This record gives sequence, C-alpha cells and structure tokens, in this order.
Amino acid sequence: MAGHNIVWHETTIKKEERQERNGHKSAILWFTGLSGAGKSTLANALEHQLFLEGKNSYVLDGDNVRHGLNKGLGFSDEDRKENIRRIGEVAKLFVDAGTIVCTAFISPFKEDRDRIRDLVEEGEFIEVYVRCSLETCEERDPKGLYKKARAGEIPEFTGISSPYEEPDAPEIIVESDKQTVEESVNVIVAYLKDKNIL
Ligand code: PPS
Repeated sequence: MAGHNIVWHETTIKKEERQERNGHKSAILWFTGLSGAGKSTLANALEHQLFLEGKNSYVLDGDNVRHGLNKGLGFSDEDRKENIRRIGEVAKLFVDAGTIVCTAFISPFKEDRDRIRDLVEEGEFIEVYVRCSLETCEERDPKGLYKKARAGEIPEFTGISSPYEEPDAPEIIVESDKQTVEESVNVIVAYLKDKNIL
C-alpha cells in the first residue's frame, strides 16, 4: 500500500512565484450541472477568452478525462465519487502550476464538490453552477443520451435515474437557458476580476 516510506517534498518554485510571473492568480473554475446544461461549452468559451488574453488556462472535460485518466470508471455513485476525487487532485496540481483550470463534470454530489473546495486554499475553488432545467436539457439532448435513458438503455442516468444535488451556495450561477454563452462568460470574467484573480 502507498503511504509508507513516502515523504512530501516542498517544490523549489512556489505557486506564488508562478502566479507572479503569469500576472494572475490560479484557481479552479468548477462547472457543475446536468448533462447537456452547457458545462463544456462554457468552460471552453471561457478558456478561449482567457487564452487569447495571454492567461495560463486549461480545460478538464468529463468525456475526455474518462477516455484516459479515468478510463474504466462508470457511473455508479462510487465511480462518480472516484472520478471527481481524481479530477480534484489533478485540478489542485494545475492550481499549484499557476493555471486557471476550468473543469466540466456533472459532479452530482455536494459532498464530493465540497471535498475539493477543502483541498485548495480559500478563494481558489470557484463553483460555477450551470443551471438549466431538466426539461431543457432533455429537449437539447445533444448526444441522444436522455432518449436512451428514458428508454431504459442507460442505467443510472443523471436527472433520470441518478440524483443531481444542486449547489447550496455556488460562487457563480449561470442560467444556460436564459443567458447567451457570451453573457455567461462575461459574468465569470467579471467575478475573476472582482476577486483579483485576473
Ligand atoms: S460525473 O457524474 O461527474 O462523474 O460525470 P462526468 O464525468 O461529468 O461524465 C458525464 C458525461 O458522461 C456521459 N454519460 C453519462 N452522464 C450521466 N449519467 C450517465 N449514466 C452517463 N453515461 C454517460 C454524458 O455524455 C456526460 O456528458 P455531459 O457533457 O455532462 O453531457
């Protein structure tokens, strides 16, 4: 078992030095919401804007991470928990590396999201709730998964046969069925400026 004979090494270059060189702080923008709510779209749109402005940014996306790092994890409560735990640890590394990391995972359980908040320093975890009614997500059904879930072809589908726990007090709420992508990105950028992250 890991744990024995493993000693934590302090890195020579500190997070603060990287942030100073980058000219901005690092943070996790944790997008959470139902499948089809628009998490990936928003995370990518925001990251694109940050990238064009010369900021250090990166997107960690549900579907992509499940092809590699988290290949083999399914959608049981336990697997989702492990999925989110690993992403949280990776996101923390990105923060240490001076990056603004945008993560786009359903992350349906409050407890799992709160655990990541506790993993980093105060102000570094910014929960962005991409709110969208189940009805609209189902209408959009970009991957045809809701249809399959309703037909009983996908077990434990979020919103249908598996729960989604809404955030109690997210730092930011965007309403993807009421705001445009550009409007939502502007709200997030304004928050980052207000908190002196940018
Ligand atoms: S979780 O709950 O945070 O571990 O999920 P995540 O890693 O974000 O993966 C969600 C994407 O996987 C597809 N998919 C499912 N979602 C929910 N429930 C079930 N059973 C499921 N099976 C496959 C789906 O395309 C999700 O993508 P998004 O981008 O959220 O629509």
